[in-house]
Amino acid sequence: MEAFFDQSVPWYLVDVPPTGPVMQKLLVDYAGIDGANVDEHIANIRDKAWRVAPFPCVGSFLFAELVLSTFPVYPKLVANLKSGAWSRYLEVGCGLGQDIRKLIQDGVPKTSVMGTDLLPGLLKSGQELLQDADALPLGQSLFAADFLDTSNDNVLSKASLDGTVDVIHATMFLHCFDRPTQLLACKRILTLLKTNPGVMIVGKQGGVAKGAGAREHPVKGPMGQVDGVVRTNFLHDVDSFKALWDEVGQVTGTRWDVQVREEEVMDRGYLYFDEEEHRWLSFVITKL
Ligand SMILES: C[S@@+](CC[C@H](N)C(=O)[O-])C[C@H]1O[C@@H](n2cnc3c(N)ncnc32)[C@H](O)[C@@H]1O
Repeated sequence: MEAFFDQSVPWYLVDVPPTGPVMQKLLVDYAGIDGANVDEHIANIRDKAWRVAPFPCVGSFLFAELVLSTFPVYPKLVANLKSGAWSRYLEVGCGLGQDIRKLIQDGVPKTSVMGTDLLPGLLKSGQELLQDADALPLGQSLFAADFLDTSNDNVLSKASLDGTVDVIHATMFLHCFDRPTQLLACKRILTLLKTNPGVMIVGKQGGVAKGAGAREHPVKGPMGQVDGVVRTNFLHDVDSFKALWDEVGQVTGTRWDVQVREEEVMDRGYLYFDEEEHRWLSFVITKL
């Protein structure tokens, strides 16, 4: 079992990297952490979260970085959620859910933001990181659920979330799965979204450079084989990601505008996505 939590993998950093000013402000002003103790706080949370899930985003402290607020579409999301034009944001595979709290800090009502993840321990680590277990309780704002569970009594349906969401955030999520499972996850995303044009899916994930060859990529490290099953991440390039959404459209009878941008992996993502052709893919997908 200890091998599962092996700290000698490249994506386990011993020291906390410098915290960006926006995350620092979130930890100090939203969570109430003393500015002088931010590094120690992040390190403590990481050590606990690593024992829940030794993921690259935990080991390399990516959970202490904000993604959504760097998107050009972010001000529109905030404005729509603040004005009531949109009533619900859901982050899927949210892990510790740092971007959810940034939305609240930026004025979105906390009743409009929700997150879901397979692992309740990560959701609890997020509550401890941001000190808001009372404001965002499990089972009310944060749901521990298998996103791929489509049984009638799955957690998200029982919480009456189907067909209620205006914008879904999926960062570092779809790439966790092989290609057939990504299609299932996308279809599940659609059942959570409202049906009107304009609903959105936004996010960022690991991929490969255009033309480098989208591929099943073996999951590295101790998570590469779970219960004897070899796991793969399907890494898209821009074109195969659009093709995935074409297929989603065909099988669901819907149409989607898919904007996807590739970017070199210059940040700590390189500790895991370390091949020359690896890229980040950022996307904004809007229902037509
Ligand atoms: C790479 S982490 C990204 C976490 C977060 N989105 C972030 O960017 O910091 C992927 C997350 O997806 C979650 N996940 C994986 N499979 C899942 C499933 N079947 N249902 C729900 N969440 C899942 C993991 O528990 C993990 O927290």
